[in-house]
Amino acid sequence: MNICIIGAGYVGLTTSAVLAEFGHLIHCVDINSDKIKKLQEGNVPIYEPQLKELICKNSDKITFSTNLPDSIQRCTVIFVTVGTPSLIDGSTDLSFLQSVFTTIAQHLQSYKTIIIKSTVPPGTNQKMHQYLLAKGVSPFMYNIVSNPEFLREGSAINDMFHPDRTVIGIAEDDKRSEVIIRDIYQSLSSPFIVTSWNGAEMIKYASNAFLATKISFINEIARICDFYGADVLDVAKGLGTDPRIGPLFLQAGIGYGGSCFPKDLQALQHIAAAKLVKTPILDAVHEVNSTQLEWNIKKLQEELPSILDKKVTVLGIAFKPNTDDIRHSPAIALIQQLHSLGADVHTYDPKAFLPADLRHIATQHKSLKSSYIDSEAVIIATDWPEICQLDWKHVKAHIKGNLILDGRNCINREEVLGFGLNYKGVGRG
Ligand code: UDX
Ligand code: UDX
Repeated sequence: MNICIIGAGYVGLTTSAVLAEFGHLIHCVDINSDKIKKLQEGNVPIYEPQLKELICKNSDKITFSTNLPDSIQRCTVIFVTVGTPSLIDGSTDLSFLQSVFTTIAQHLQSYKTIIIKSTVPPGTNQKMHQYLLAKGVSPFMYNIVSNPEFLREGSAINDMFHPDRTVIGIAEDDKRSEVIIRDIYQSLSSPFIVTSWNGAEMIKYASNAFLATKISFINEIARICDFYGADVLDVAKGLGTDPRIGPLFLQAGIGYGGSCFPKDLQALQHIAAAKLVKTPILDAVHEVNSTQLEWNIKKLQEELPSILDKKVTVLGIAFKPNTDDIRHSPAIALIQQLHSLGADVHTYDPKAFLPADLRHIATQHKSLKSSYIDSEAVIIATDWPEICQLDWKHVKAHIKGNLILDGRNCINREEVLGFGLNYKGVGRG
């Protein structure tokens, strides 16, 4: 099929690469001409494992351009993967989506299946349908489909090749789209969940909100473990062996970040409030997550009462390993809080960089080993494998203090203690 993908971000590029690998002809469009120029030159502007390789492997089937009207004409299927960021009040900014539908309305000359993959609040697919009708577009010229993605950054390609489910939200009178979507994804073996537009939109929000709930739950349990000398790793194991609970997303740490959980939870709280539905659970999930950092900074201050002008090393800048994405990164929030407490902050990340406006608050090192020389404390903020497998003998020999704060419970406590270092984890008793 000739498929147009609008928005060459994490989701748009992953979708382009995977659908090209399935054999489809991809026209990937983005408003950002620099990004498109890089992509046309074979450079992928984001770090995502396997993405560059898969795009190169399928370069004969993928074209990149900024010319949206032309791409719309060439294709029968349009995926919309533009950003849907948060507005100040926590609601979702649909202006990018709206501007894409304005262009679609102006350039629809033959039947199209329009698939919204961006995360959008319930009612948005309906709204876009109404918008096209209001623009005078005949309802026989298109169908809109909600097809939320569930890929995780850092494993996006794998997640798209092996999704747990493919969710399709269609209009009641839409007799064409399900066949087309099943055809697009025919190479996948996962189950299809076919529902309404609102059903699909809610599945996406509820899924992210539930995963965030698991994380805030285990972080709250970790706080209790700290007082009762219980090890949250054992507790998570005890919980996770119960198939009703499941072992995943029970890793306690300094909180969740990224472009999805914080944004989608807020959006869900916002759409509920719009209908006067109280959300005590979602509110608590947000509350725990927004206080999880200070809970762990308190631990640092117990061990290092005054950190004024003290060199402290934060390992990790990205919001999670295997990505260069720093959106809502807990590691960056940690660096900012330590800076505001007067610490001399040094940091390292294999792929991510401090944003330009924060480069004055911390020194980012090119090498892991140089980042902790003469440090009073080393804090693990992002569980990159390179950081989790640190050479503790070298650390012991080169840091000034001896405090290791494991903000992701990802390092071997016994090994660290074995080198005479002081290990502090999250709820490790
Ligand atoms: C996006 C959404 O933000 C998220 O809500 C959804 O779950 C998945 O898709 P992501 O791919 O991470 O997530 O977004 P981002 O990396 O910001 O990429 C969006 C791209 O759309 C950007 O490259 C931007 O330039 C492009 N864009 C935006 C357009 O091409 N046209 C527009 O009108 C607006
Ligand atoms: C998430 C969802 O997992 C994915 O399905 C959806 O499509 C987009 O949002 P992503 O944000 O890329 O994906 O990363 P994820 O692996 O979910 O991690 C999110 C945050 O939670 C990270 O900051 C991570 O460090 C944290 N996390 C994750 C924990 O603190 N504990 C855990 O057990 C798991």
